[in-house]
Amino acid sequence: MERVIVFDTTLRDGEQSPGATLHTDEKLEIARQLARLGVDVIEAGFPASSPGDLQAVQRIAREVQGPTICGLARCVRGDVDAAWEAVKDAERKRIHVFIATSDIHLQHKLRMTREQVIEATRAMVGYARSLCDDIEFSPEDASRSDPEFLYEVLGEAIAAGATTLNIPDTVGYSTPPEFADLIRGIRAHTPGIDRAVISVHCHNDLGMAVANTLAALQAGARQVECTINGLGERAGNAALEEIVMALYTRQQFYSLSTGIDTTELYPTSRMVSNYTGLAVQANKAIVGANAFAHEAGIHQDGILKNRLTYEIMEASTVGLSQSTLVLGKHSGRHAFSDRLAQMGYHLDAEQLNRAFARFKELADKKKVVSDPDIEALVSDEVFQPQELYRLEQLQVSCGDFAIPTATVSLRAPNGEVVTDAAHGTGPVDAVYKAINRIVGVPNELIEFSVKSVTEGIDAVGEVTVRIEAELTVDNGLPVNPQTGTRTRIFSGHGASTDIIVASGRAYMSALNKLLAIRGA
Ligand code: KIV
Ligand code: ZN
Repeated sequence: MERVIVFDTTLRDGEQSPGATLHTDEKLEIARQLARLGVDVIEAGFPASSPGDLQAVQRIAREVQGPTICGLARCVRGDVDAAWEAVKDAERKRIHVFIATSDIHLQHKLRMTREQVIEATRAMVGYARSLCDDIEFSPEDASRSDPEFLYEVLGEAIAAGATTLNIPDTVGYSTPPEFADLIRGIRAHTPGIDRAVISVHCHNDLGMAVANTLAALQAGARQVECTINGLGERAGNAALEEIVMALYTRQQFYSLSTGIDTTELYPTSRMVSNYTGLAVQANKAIVGANAFAHEAGIHQDGILKNRLTYEIMEASTVGLSQSTLVLGKHSGRHAFSDRLAQMGYHLDAEQLNRAFARFKELADKKKVVSDPDIEALVSDEVFQPQELYRLEQLQVSCGDFAIPTATVSLRAPNGEVVTDAAHGTGPVDAVYKAINRIVGVPNELIEFSVKSVTEGIDAVGEVTVRIEAELTVDNGLPVNPQTGTRTRIFSGHGASTDIIVASGRAYMSALNKLLAIRGA
């Protein structure tokens, strides 16, 4: 079976999802998890876009072993220099150079002629190759480019030293038969194509990113660019978990394999969802909450008789195993850490201590602690940004005839515990106002959602918030021409059997990300 190279761009294209801002420590954690998952290449960022991005890519390059670490660059010398600076310390490194090739982009965005695009490709791929042996080249908007021009640019890129040619369907416009034809055309007409790996990078604007990717593999592509949970610009990129499981489940049809450890898919999806604050829809293939749930009576009956009636994959294959072992207040540390390992969590000793303390707290309140409860508490306790301010205590009074009032104590970065109170339109509003009085960083709450992790009156509630704040530091974001400011969205999540406490924790999680970027 031929091997497909899995190129993950969650930390670059995925982070371009509106609101999916990631802090450097979170990027590093995700990169470590991607290495455990077994991806071949991690596109860790776009180093020329901001000093923060360069630094994040550099840390990943220095600290994550296994996958090739890649940095993106436009066909501009400064970008190539920044990408090289960021990846050069990695065990395996790659520079990914791109320039648009469609007439629409040439005329309206680049304002360049075709000759100028060819010249820039030759010069910058050549320059990148003088620094690094592994060079990927992408003709942006390839699927809407004149194929003859595309073959010419790709041929020049190979001649200048590109080792991977990535064909993006940048705006998600292509269909599977067209995209497969494009790949076949490239294989047939590009000079020197045998010296390069053909890669594809599909966006999901028409919901065909995964289908286009798989069609391209059948036509001879051997690298897939994808993201966890299908995150990415606009409607996102092809979802890694869907491509991998299609190849795995339909092995006889595709005869292609990957190096992915499928049991790490679910924990990776959870981590990315927690860190980005972008929830996974319940009916999402492979990693959605309902992906392995059977509701209809006829289906349940069939499953009980023989799982093959309605299940083409086993939940445990993607790392989603429901244990028959019940954890409760008498369960010890060993049983708890065993369960975590079975669920795909790899915690260090300090993280395990914290998670176990939270488990004991929860087990005192709930008779049976289920896998979703454990997931919620681990993500609340462990997958959090560095706590500059820590929520120490929270108390609310509210009700039909009461003015919702909250008293909050936070531990400040200098170790001092500060207490303040506020009233609001409801208990959550009062808590957030009290926190704001202490932290004093203006922001706007733009999204608040609460969901119950399991059924039952004693269920754990999970809260996700998104806040928007104006940044005074130059973070590389474009200035909004209307307001003359740079704003950025930060997400946060929290979990507790008390949803007001979960709301407070979620808000602190988003605020701590904001404070870290402001350098508080
Ligand atoms: O969608 C796209 O064209 C890209 C390129 C930079 C590869 O993300
Ligand atoms: Zn893209």
